[in-house]
Order: sequence, then C-alpha cells, then structure tokens
Amino acid sequence: MGFNKDFYWGGSVSSFQTEGAWDEGGKGLSIYDVRPTNPNFSDWKVAIDAYHRYPEDIALMKEMGFNFYRFSICWSRIIPNGDDDINEEGVAFYNRLIDQLLEAGIEPMITLVHFDMPYHLVKEYNGFASRKVVDLFERYARVCMERFGDRVKHWMSFNEQNLFSQSLRYSNAEDIPEGEDPIKFLYQVNHHVFIAHCKAVKALRELVPDAQFCGMVAYGLTYPDSAEPKANMIAQLTNDYFNNFYVDVFTKGKYPQYMINYLTAHDWMPKFDKEDDTLLSYTVDYMAFSYYTSAVVTTAEYEGRFLGDVIAEAHRKNEFLDGTEWGWQIDPIGIRRIARDIYYRSNKPVFVLENGIAHRESLNENLTVEDDYRIDYHREHIKQLKAAVEVDGVECLGYVTWGPIDIPSSQCEIAKRYGFVFVNRDEKDLKDLSRHKKKSFYWVKKAFESNGEDLD
Ligand code: BG6
Repeated sequence: MGFNKDFYWGGSVSSFQTEGAWDEGGKGLSIYDVRPTNPNFSDWKVAIDAYHRYPEDIALMKEMGFNFYRFSICWSRIIPNGDDDINEEGVAFYNRLIDQLLEAGIEPMITLVHFDMPYHLVKEYNGFASRKVVDLFERYARVCMERFGDRVKHWMSFNEQNLFSQSLRYSNAEDIPEGEDPIKFLYQVNHHVFIAHCKAVKALRELVPDAQFCGMVAYGLTYPDSAEPKANMIAQLTNDYFNNFYVDVFTKGKYPQYMINYLTAHDWMPKFDKEDDTLLSYTVDYMAFSYYTSAVVTTAEYEGRFLGDVIAEAHRKNEFLDGTEWGWQIDPIGIRRIARDIYYRSNKPVFVLENGIAHRESLNENLTVEDDYRIDYHREHIKQLKAAVEVDGVECLGYVTWGPIDIPSSQCEIAKRYGFVFVNRDEKDLKDLSRHKKKSFYWVKKAFESNGEDLD
C-alpha cells in the first residue's frame, strides 16, 4: 500500500518566475519583458536569478529529497524572435541545467510554454490568433526535442491549457479584430492552441519515442452552495466546459459532443483546417493537473451565456473552509476528488504538477521562517492523495509542489511566497537574493524521502 516506489516528489516552476537574466545569453524580448506589472509589485528582470544560481537551487532540491523538477523553457532564449535562428547560448544554458539535475538524481520535465512567448510573435502575429504561430511553435518544440530529448523524458506543451478558454492573455492574442465576436475569437484561438499541442505530441512520437507527453489543466473544482438545482447545474457545467473538455480532447482525441453542441448553439464553434481532425487524434500518455483551491457557486442564469461570465457572477466564498490572505481557500479533499474524476474519466494515470500555499513571510532572528501552516497544507493534501491511490485505486505518478524555492507570483508579487526555501528579496529591493531554509524544508525532506510515509 502507499505510493509506488518510483513515485515522483518534487517542484515545478516557470522560466519567467525564476530565471531573471532578461537580457543575457542572447535571449530575445519575451512578452513578459514588455507587459507592465502592477506598480506595487516587482518586474521580471531578475526574478530569483536562477539563470545564475541554479546550481545552488539544485543542491537544495536534492537535499529536500526531490527526484523530479518541472521547469519551462523560455521560448525567446531558444529562438529569440520566434521566427529567426536558434540561439546556441540559450540551448547551452538548458543543457547545463538538465545535466546538473540528472547528476543530482532529479528527473527533469520540460514545459514548452508557461504563458510566455517571444514579444515579436505577439506584435507581428497576435500570438496564437495566427496559424503561423502554431507552425512556429511546432518548430520551437522540435528544436527542444532534438536538443534535449536524449535526456528529458517528460514533456508538456502548455501550462494549464484550460485557462486559454477563459482569457486571451494566456495565448497572447489580446488584439480582437474589429467586428469579431470576442467569445468566438477566444474559442478559435483556443483551438489553435489545441492544434499546436497536438503537433508537439506528434513531434515527440517521431523524435523521442521513449518519452512521455502529458496534457495539463488547472482543475476548477466547483461545488454548489446548496441543493438548489441551478447552482448544481453551474457547478456541473464548469466541470464540463472548463475541465472535462480538455481532459476529453487530450485523452480521447476529439472534441466531445457536449462541447460541440454548446459551441455550435452559440455560433462559437471554431473553424477546423483539413488536417485538424487527424492532429487531434494524437493523445497524451497521462493527465497532469494543478490544484490550490476549490470554488463555490450559487444560483444564477446560465442558459445562453458564456460560462466565464456566469462563474464570475455566481462565485461565492466557501463558509466551511479557511483561506489565505489572497482568498484561496484550503480544501485538501479536493485533490482526491480531482484525481478520481480525471482518472475514472480518462483511464490515464494522473500527476499532480502544482500544489502549494502562499504566505507573506520574513526571516526571523534565526534567519528562518516557522511556516507550520505550509507543513499542514502539504501534509493534508498528501494524505488525501494517498487515499485516492489506496482507497480509490487511482494510478498517480507523483506529487510536485509549486515554487519550492520562493519565486514571484504569476502577478510578479514576491510577497506571495510558496517555497520551502526563503529567497531574500522584496518587491523593489533585490537585497542579496540569498536562500534560507524554512521549517517546512526539513518536513518536506522527511516526507519525500520516506515516500510519503512519514508525514508527522
Ligand atoms: C499556476 C501557474 O496557475 O499558479 C503559476 O502555473 C502560478 O505560474 C501558480 O504562479 C500560483 O499562482 P499565483 O498567482 O499565486 O502565483
């Protein structure tokens, strides 16, 4: 019983939230170098300087008992403008990172796109609004597979791909052509991203047949706030249109009928090119998900409306759960629900690729942080995941935490810390960026090295 002996334990990050070195090593401008951040927060220029400090960070992860690390490649480090030559210095950086991870006994996983892309592709083509960018993405994916596939056996195309149906920001296609229905446009762009993903799966099958490709969703686990049927229906529709649509395309190789009906009824069905049905049939090896919090909806009108608008109106706080300062409510049972739902639906192994809790923190006089709340959070989530495996029979590949060494949040707020290691910097003052082990560091080491047995 318990987790398999080859279960993965580790951490997940993105390039823009870790690397810094925004204008070094032949890197081109990324959308993140250009898009303004909240003036009270930081910018992406230095992040935690992992571009230079990765050996120290790998040593810390090794000490914590990690055997898995998911990072994203910065597209503009490999192909600076997205449609020009390969930047060998960028390739060399990721080669060094991969080699050092493997030397430390840590299996690397590559995310090809974690929300970023070369700025030139945004300006010139409006991101994934253009099929040309789909082809440029395929070229980029193939370069990465050719250069890193001999050592990297876990691959993902797009981080949290289901977010792409909620906002154009993720596909960097925010320029909606005049006269175009914004939701129809959103689903067309979303379709291009599906096709880009499938082209990458096809490329991996050809170039690195012994590697595995996954689909990933930010699973929106949604409860109704009562037995009121409309609230229950909204929760169900969220599950269908936001989560299952993606799980179904990734694992069954075509748009599910309920989604075709929803999109067609509103005239939002995207235009398919001739090759698209065949491309969609390239399915994944396993399903990954991120999970931090669950949501609650109350009753609202939903017929004939865009689900995103319905959820925004119907969203409520869960009165049974505590939450963080940012309003993310803590629901460990949710992780078990999701693991079951995805596994039973897709019949593919599941993989938790992001989980964690953010807190505002500072170093105490002993140069550490007593983050018992973080230990509690991970303990309870691991326990529930174990129940999914032991009681429910879910096949689960691993439990991977978000931002194990403090990084700025997705909004560039360094105060929103997730790590087991404190990084000494503020929003505006970079200080010395030194790394300090928090109390949770030692707990994680025990939990991971005992394969999830010692959770005290
Ligand atoms: C995930 C993203 O949605 O959540 C990460 O993949 C992000 O990029 C993480 O950092 C946590 O969200 P936030 O906004 O607290 O950083």
